[in-house]
Amino acid sequence: MRHLLQSDDFTNQELDGLMDLADDIIARPAHYAEACRGKKLATLFFEPSTRTRLSFEAAMYELGGQVLSVASMASSSAAKGESVSDTVRIAGCYADIIAMRHPLEGAPYAARRVTTVPLINAGDGAHHHPTQTLADILTIRRETGRLDHLTVGLCGDLKYGRTVHSLVECLAQRAGVKFVFISPPQLAMPRPMLHTMLEEKNIPYTETASLEQALPGLDVLYMTRIQKERFDDLSVYEALKDSYVLDTAKLAAAKPDCIVLHPLPRVNEISTEVDADPRACYFKQAYNGKIMRMALILTLLGLAGGRAFAESERAKGQGRLPDGCVEAVCENSRCISQTEQGLPRLAAPVAGKPGRWRCVWCDHLIG
Ligand code: NCD
Repeated sequence: MRHLLQSDDFTNQELDGLMDLADDIIARPAHYAEACRGKKLATLFFEPSTRTRLSFEAAMYELGGQVLSVASMASSSAAKGESVSDTVRIAGCYADIIAMRHPLEGAPYAARRVTTVPLINAGDGAHHHPTQTLADILTIRRETGRLDHLTVGLCGDLKYGRTVHSLVECLAQRAGVKFVFISPPQLAMPRPMLHTMLEEKNIPYTETASLEQALPGLDVLYMTRIQKERFDDLSVYEALKDSYVLDTAKLAAAKPDCIVLHPLPRVNEISTEVDADPRACYFKQAYNGKIMRMALILTLLGLAGGRAFAESERAKGQGRLPDGCVEAVCENSRCISQTEQGLPRLAAPVAGKPGRWRCVWCDHLIG
């Protein structure tokens, strides 16, 4: 059984296979219209969502399957204090596959220990959001014809933006990809992620606060919303919220074939006048999100025919605790280990940084 909790749960080859399947779904949707007949998807969304939940549900309906949905934390037993593990175990009694979004970082990793059906992370706090990455890479591949040898600029809230974390982890596996991180210093990429995703692998990146300076060199510009709900101090959010606004005047400096992506929702990072520019691909990206979720559901349910995943080494490593774990309490107030009953509090050594430890659930540095 395979799950998708973060981008590198799948190999490049597996992701290429998913995108090939997505291209085929776009080309001949009728062929897939009954593929999930009799199957049920449970959507457990404990945090607001429009696109992700609707696109998961639309994906399952378009495959001929059905959907069971918990729309909010307040209307589920989580409000009575049920653990994430128990909720997921129960959902697995009724559904064949689960997509879960949770405000606490590491929640799906806790749930993976007990789930009896394939589990998909639809966003865990400020940590990961791998199905948005599926939408992103299909869009990049369809619009530019490749996923390698690209200069990718990511702009906005790189600290709390989980879509950024998952996309960087994924594209870092492709040859010749360079990253330009564009943010105010307060919202820079988390250092541990830069270290494990890029520095350890000698992948080039630069950091700047200037969108204007970075723009002319980019093949892909990935704009993001400043994540208001993740700030402990709202005055900091107020000071940073309008750091970047892409408008047609600024976009004039971009390459003619640079594509502009945004996971959406936008607040005002991209002015609406940009929507008419052929380089604006964010609405296509939202559409591609539904198609890739169809490809993902088919594949995780083993209904993708010859395209099913092989039992790769990657699959065998999934869910296994890293070597050398020690007991330790995580200080991240948004970590699942703060509330989940029965979850061991564990830290793993940070690769390449002797003496540094990270929480095995949310990846925050400990100590
Ligand atoms: C993103 C998310 O939820 O992280 N939205 C989405 O799933 N498309 C981005 C965001 O909320 O800013």
